Amino acid sequence: MINKKIEQAFNAQFNAETYSAYLYLSMSAALEGMNLPGFANWMRIQVQEETAHAMKFYDHIIERGGTVTLTAIDAPPTVWKDAKAVMEATLAHEQKVTGLINDLMDLAIAEKDHAATMFLQWFVAEQVEEEATAMETLGKLEITGNSPGGLYMLDKELAGRVFTPPAAAE
Ligand SMILES: [Fe+2]
Ligand SMILES: [Fe+2]
Repeated sequence: MINKKIEQAFNAQFNAETYSAYLYLSMSAALEGMNLPGFANWMRIQVQEETAHAMKFYDHIIERGGTVTLTAIDAPPTVWKDAKAVMEATLAHEQKVTGLINDLMDLAIAEKDHAATMFLQWFVAEQVEEEATAMETLGKLEITGNSPGGLYMLDKELAGRVFTPPAAAE
C-alpha cells in the first residue's frame, strides 16, 4: 500500500510529466511553424516519452492500491525565437524535472518506501539520458549556428528519430 505523502507526490509528478508532454507538443508546433519538420518530429517523440513517463507514475499508484487524482495542466509557452531557443528551453526544463525526481527520491528514502525508491531509480537514470539528449542537440545547433545549410542538415538528421517505448519492467 502506498502512503498518502508518496501518493500525493506521485500524483504531482504525473501532472509534471503530462505538462512536459504538453510543453514539447507546443514546441513541436512552433518548430513546424519554423519549417523545421525534423526538429518537430524530434519533439513529437519527446511527447510520447513524457506520456510514457506519466503513465509509469499512474500505473505505480494504482498497482499499490493508491488513488490517481488528475489535476489541471498549465498552459505551456507557444512562441520561441528560433530552434536554439527551443532546445535551450528543453534543456532547462529537463534540469528542472531532474530536481523534481531527486526530491521524490529524497521523500521515498525519508518515508522508507523501498518500492518507490526502486521505481524511482529508473527515472534517475532516465533524467541523465534526457539531459544528455538535449545537450547533444543543443551542441550541434551551436556548431551550425543559424546557418540555413547547417539547420537544413540537422533537421534531416532529427527527422530520423523514432520512439522506443520504455521497458515495462521496473
Ligand atoms: Fe519525463
Ligand atoms: Fe523528459
